[in-house]
Amino acid sequence: MKDKIIALLDSAIEEIDKDTITSLLEQPPKPELGDYAFPCFQLAKILRKAPPMIATDICSKIEKPDYIEKIEVQGAYINFFLNKSTYAKEVVTRAKVDGYGESEEGKGKTICIDYSSPNVAKNFHVGHLRTTVIGNSLYKIYSKLGYKVERINHLGDWGTQFGKLIVAYKSWGSEDLVKEKGIEELMRLYVKFHEEAEKIPELEDEARAWFHKMETGDEEALKIWKWFFDISLEEFKRTYKLMGMEFDHYTGESFYRDKTDDVVKELTDKNLLTDSEGAKIVDLSEYDMAPCLILKKDGSSIYATRDIAAVEYRKNTYNFTKCLYVTGQEQKLHFAQVFKVMELLGNDWAKDSLVHIPYGLVSLGGEKLSTRGGNVIYAEDILLEAISKIKEVIETKNPDLENKDEVSRIVGVGAVIFNDLYNQRIKDVSFKWEHLLNFDGETGPYVQYTYARCSSILRNVSDFDIDTEIDYSVLTDSASVELIKEIDRFPTIIKDASERYEPSVVARYSVDLAQAFNKFYTENRIAVDEKNVRNARCMLTAITRRILKDSLDLLGIGCVERM
Ligand code: ARG
Repeated sequence: MKDKIIALLDSAIEEIDKDTITSLLEQPPKPELGDYAFPCFQLAKILRKAPPMIATDICSKIEKPDYIEKIEVQGAYINFFLNKSTYAKEVVTRAKVDGYGESEEGKGKTICIDYSSPNVAKNFHVGHLRTTVIGNSLYKIYSKLGYKVERINHLGDWGTQFGKLIVAYKSWGSEDLVKEKGIEELMRLYVKFHEEAEKIPELEDEARAWFHKMETGDEEALKIWKWFFDISLEEFKRTYKLMGMEFDHYTGESFYRDKTDDVVKELTDKNLLTDSEGAKIVDLSEYDMAPCLILKKDGSSIYATRDIAAVEYRKNTYNFTKCLYVTGQEQKLHFAQVFKVMELLGNDWAKDSLVHIPYGLVSLGGEKLSTRGGNVIYAEDILLEAISKIKEVIETKNPDLENKDEVSRIVGVGAVIFNDLYNQRIKDVSFKWEHLLNFDGETGPYVQYTYARCSSILRNVSDFDIDTEIDYSVLTDSASVELIKEIDRFPTIIKDASERYEPSVVARYSVDLAQAFNKFYTENRIAVDEKNVRNARCMLTAITRRILKDSLDLLGIGCVERM
């Protein structure tokens, strides 16, 4: 509707362009001022005439279409009043169709998303939880817009740290303890290595030697490494399963270990490598960046080398239009360097196609969270705790509910995910049980609860069918119109979220829609006797229900019919 009004204004105004009109058009705070209002102050400056005169002029040039009830000049403003039932009809007709919000924008295009990517032999912590939920939501959003998405888990499974771990395991470890405690024990061994290496510096040489063995294919070294890898991946997959998430590729850093020689060769051929105290670097001083380290003094590759190999592999394999990297802000320089090196290698596409998507920290603000060895917080423990807290609520409020365990999982996990996605990703997230589990706040449980309410309303009306024609004149009260406006926004919301790589746009929208519905529901009884009124209100309920479900799904959150 907004677009149509913009088009009307655009045809009546010559002095400013469509984008300016769009930025000026307002949604007035009071219904007496119409549904949309256009201020004429800016035109007054250009035309050197009084704003009300300009408003009247423009108004006389516009021919009023059916969907507008009246156009009025009030002071410096042109106010547009929608014809509410025509508007309701237009929105409902579009929104009740399956696939509302989908588009063909991405048809034939592929987007790679590199996210989650925890480090082998280290715990899956709250930071990794953020990249996981942001990346997964972007996957859903782009899929909805018709893109083919490759979900890539770039596990941190290669590097000198594994040399250290092997030394520690061989010196102080036991097979049984590793089997019993998994990552927790591997982390203990890693810490132990650093403590001991303070006293005996030669251990560092030993560790380097072991990593060198890994790089040159030594059987014993690779066997131990693979064992640590399997243990870690199994733990990570447990966390993904809890969240209901999957990946298309677990191609971590080790996947590129036989591809880094080519990177070095290409950089050498193109004269981009320089010596720096025995190491090989790409000098980026011309671009105000620290040099990108490619090979260490001992000739081993590093994180950046493997990332360059990964971009080339992905471009050749998936021919992506974009490759997104979801990591914390502290890796900003790393990605800027890698992207610049790709450009210097002559890849013109690198500039627009490679995008780093940073996010802020999670601050636990004194919350008591369960910890395992060494006071480390595991994402899995947070999720399990959320699930058990929700279970307690259900036990007291709705003890007869069916599938209590599954409902608790969907709501508990949803609460944690929603909390991570509600604020702009670059902002820090605060973690407060009291807030994120609240059924009345701007939370996952609130949106899920509203969904369940819609389901329950529709369950109790037996004769409603979404394909029946309805009486749109019933939907002209202000609560209905506000709800219809929210329904109208859904496709724009998805587009906006995708353009800004910002799942929070969808999260906030889901709360706005739920609030608009709850207001509609408080002000309008739905299961009334008059059939036309009942049908029309059920129609809005059914559409809201579907969009709430779709919005939550775009965030990677499930729904339950009863809670
Ligand atoms: N494993 C890294 C970490 O935990 C994240 C990897 C991100 N992806 C990449 N292609 N570098 O910080």
